[in-house]
Amino acid sequence: RLRTAILISGRGSNMDALIAAARAPDFPAEIVLVLSNRADAPGLAKAKAAGVAVAAVDHKIYAGREEFERSLQLVLETHRIDFICLAGFMRLFTPWFINQWRGRMLNIHPALLPSYRGLHTHERALADGVKIHGCTAHFVVPEMDEGPIVAQAAVPVLDGDTPETLGARVLSQEHVIYPLALRLAASGAVRIEGNRVLGALPACDDRLIA
Ligand code: GAR
Repeated sequence: RLRTAILISGRGSNMDALIAAARAPDFPAEIVLVLSNRADAPGLAKAKAAGVAVAAVDHKIYAGREEFERSLQLVLETHRIDFICLAGFMRLFTPWFINQWRGRMLNIHPALLPSYRGLHTHERALADGVKIHGCTAHFVVPEMDEGPIVAQAAVPVLDGDTPETLGARVLSQEHVIYPLALRLAASGAVRIEGNRVLGALPACDDRLIA
């Protein structure tokens, strides 16, 4: 089983979903570390309660991004980490860090990439009047919110939605597709070829997977 670290900055609901999924005896990844750039991230306490080792590396005490990343890398090496899941980790990485983890680092993004990269995805989707929104699990490459897609789920945008109601509908699907994506990536069922993933899941929507 691949020794997997989850990197978080906040609440950690995707982290919870990954920890729960990895309890299945046949799951190809074992969650051995939850690492945050904020010592007060609520997710850290939840991880601890679930019996997972936790660590915090505060980005603010480092002179620059690379110094911060070297420190992260050291913690990851100390825990003999094979695979990383970013789960609401709100720091950008340099190519130096990402290239060391190429093909071994996944992210979950609250939109149907390549639409709505970046922040405030639900507000922007509502402002545009789109009728379908969703989430994407993808391998991480140096360009922000790009990278080969492993799984996506779509949800409808409903009349009267607010960023909160739409965000909650999307989040519940993040919790479904992220464990699926980790299972596929950690088992080797998917692999990167160019900017695509071979073996990726077919598109699903919440009526099919709810
Ligand atoms: C999730 O919606 C995740 O997709 C998003 O942050 C939230 C974290 O929630 N990630 C990003 O926006 C990354 N740019 P969680 O801490 O409850 O998993």
